[in-house]
Amino acid sequence: MVCGTLMSCFNCLFTRGESSPSGTVETEEGFSGVLNVRTYAYKELKHATDDFSEHNKIGEGGFGSVYKGRLKDGTIVAIKVLAAESRQGVREFLTEINVISDIEHENLVKLYGCCVEGHHRILVYNYLENNSLAQTLLDGGRSGLQFDWRTRSNIGIGVARGLAFLHEEVQPHILHRDIKASNILLDRNLNPKISDFGLAKLLPPNMTHVSTRVAGTIGYLAPEYAIRGQLTRKADIYSFGVLLLEIVSGRCNTNTRLPIEEQYLLERTWSLHERNELVLLVDTSLNGEFDAEEACRFLKIGLLCTQDSPKLRPSMSTVMRYLTGEKSIELKITKPGLISDLMDLKVRSQKKAKKSNTTISTMNTASALNSSSASSANNTTYGSLTFTDIHDRSV
Ligand SMILES: Nc1ncnc2c1ncn2[C@@H]1O[C@H](COP(=O)(O)OP(=O)(O)OP(=O)(O)O)[C@@H](O)[C@H]1O
Ligand SMILES: [Mg+2]
Repeated sequence: MVCGTLMSCFNCLFTRGESSPSGTVETEEGFSGVLNVRTYAYKELKHATDDFSEHNKIGEGGFGSVYKGRLKDGTIVAIKVLAAESRQGVREFLTEINVISDIEHENLVKLYGCCVEGHHRILVYNYLENNSLAQTLLDGGRSGLQFDWRTRSNIGIGVARGLAFLHEEVQPHILHRDIKASNILLDRNLNPKISDFGLAKLLPPNMTHVSTRVAGTIGYLAPEYAIRGQLTRKADIYSFGVLLLEIVSGRCNTNTRLPIEEQYLLERTWSLHERNELVLLVDTSLNGEFDAEEACRFLKIGLLCTQDSPKLRPSMSTVMRYLTGEKSIELKITKPGLISDLMDLKVRSQKKAKKSNTTISTMNTASALNSSSASSANNTTYGSLTFTDIHDRSV
């Protein structure tokens, strides 16, 4: 088997217990490829993290655990140990890693290298001092970090720049697939860097990252992706729009502790937009110290990015020009695609289906919903995605 041969080849490469710079990889079958990423020995990463100690663990996500570590040369790194289910064959893993490692941009987290020794699949990244937007800006002030208007505007523009680079400059284009606050990391000056780009492709086909950890992801999902699994750059742009609203308002896209009409940020933004009161959405912790014209422009851009029809959402380079004020928004903003509408629709469809015992296929987008799919109190299926515990776990 090719993978097995590659594996033994790599085992040979790493038995010295040393990290190695990039170079050409060849197998007995004649597979050869340039490995443009540094490879680390498992022993070195084990040492760097004090045997992957709890003390050095900085978080856990859908792919596995992340540790802070110090390499032999003193560099501080973030070490992401992919969980068992995320493991791939060496060839597939390195192919994807090679793609990611080529990419460098000031608003993207840099991949330093990886470890593919035995069954281990580990990624080594540049360490970002100020954690993610989810754990700082959206964590109710617990981090102690202050995000003034300038900083927020810089974060919005920086993320847009990073995403525009992935979408429009990298060849072939890269879809992020998981733009959300926990994937926006902050350096010591609170400059944003997008993390986890290209990672969704590392998952084996039978594991949908989104469906397994949807609680933190649902509010960012574009309707056409949620319903039909239709994944294009426009789905990333939708997620970016939701993120932008979070940056300006300082709150999570879903908060079930709020009064019902305020729980969904996008829905709330739309109703304030209709009443010409968008400015009320701006984070009150700014104490009124912000550029109201710019803040409302950002919120309108958030609405444009989340339009129900993907065609109406601007490209990321256009978003950048809107954000910087280089281009003015002349388009009419229509109602955004709301996931809560889909949830209502599903509930209504099921009630109706129960009553008539027939498949609902005529209402609006209902035809796209998989009405024969399983649904219980804790597990609801929309098209190709399974949303688990939506109401209980979303915060
Ligand atoms: N390069 C890094 N520098 C500093 N902290 C990081 C780095 N990469 C990840 N982290 C932290 O590790 C934690 C876990 O990250 P991880 O990407 O595994 O999960 P997540 O982003 O919360 O969820 P998901 O798996 O859905 O992306 C995050 O809280 C993040 O702040
Ligand atoms: Mg992440």
